[in-house]
Amino acid sequence: MSRNPSVLITGASGEIGHELIAHLTAGDAARQVVTLDLNPLQPELAAKVRQQFVGSILDTQLLERIIAEYEVDRVYHLAALLSTRSEFSPALAHKVNVEGALNLLEFAQKQGESHGRPVVFFYPSSIAAFGLPDLATKAAAGKVKEDDFNVPTTMYGANKLYCEHLGRYYSRHYKQLAAETLSGKVDFRCLRFPGLISAETVPSGGTSDYAPEMIHAAASGKPYDCFVRPDTRIPFMAMPDAVTAILRLMSAPREKLTRSVYNVGAFAPSAAEFETVVRAAFPMATLGTKVDTKRQGIVDSWPADVDDSTARRDWGHAPKYDFATSFHDYLMPSIRKRYGG
Ligand code: SER
Repeated sequence: MSRNPSVLITGASGEIGHELIAHLTAGDAARQVVTLDLNPLQPELAAKVRQQFVGSILDTQLLERIIAEYEVDRVYHLAALLSTRSEFSPALAHKVNVEGALNLLEFAQKQGESHGRPVVFFYPSSIAAFGLPDLATKAAAGKVKEDDFNVPTTMYGANKLYCEHLGRYYSRHYKQLAAETLSGKVDFRCLRFPGLISAETVPSGGTSDYAPEMIHAAASGKPYDCFVRPDTRIPFMAMPDAVTAILRLMSAPREKLTRSVYNVGAFAPSAAEFETVVRAAFPMATLGTKVDTKRQGIVDSWPADVDDSTARRDWGHAPKYDFATSFHDYLMPSIRKRYGG
């Protein structure tokens, strides 16, 4: 049992969690970290956290146990089924992505009511929350704002958009008809991420995975057929900038935040531009294109880029890496080390 202020990270062994743990457990960290994931953490990550719970976000008894044992005032709810996987199992996706998020919001509400401080709750949403009806509209729209085209075509996108609303509800309107005011115990903060590219991990189950898959395949000497057309364009971000954005948003003074959900972007190359850069770095790479028309349809419904000016203004979103530097300064050094290039 620990009554020190604690952080709970769900989905901690996933791509974002992997990198976030290192930052949240750095020497001067104010809070101890507790994790919850279906899969055990890698030993070097496990060594950094106070306790890892191996289990499901759908297991409410396990969540009750964490409430009983820890005083959590920060939640990073990262656990989810990504977009491609969700399309194969929509009912399961709803369970994990929506019921799971609801369980964690209830968890945060109860924690906030018990210790009296708002629980700052980070939720990663996605460009999948957008749905552009056709390529002409996508081309004309350019950088989309948060509130435009909120008509997702995927189960995952619908789940994310609804959970954004749930978060806003818990933050501002929770049990609004009750005699006492119960809202304000959850301080919900959300980023709509573009496709993320990590040098450390290869994603699984996403639809923006073609870019990181291409890079990791080329670096490890494996042939790769990109599953979208060369002209396909969506925004991307290097993982360190995603983690920095999370940390900045979470530490921003509440009064600076004019929204609960922010677009964040960094660069938006086409699949052909990715291929050119990967070929330049790995001239021996065997890269082709084999369009999966169905997955292509999903990526075509996502914006070519996002307008993240509100994030830049409110809490200083400022990605360090653009397309070129993300390759040369971030991805290449770590990837070469990893695959021995
Ligand atoms: N990049 C994720 C995916 O493709 C979306 O959040 O599923």
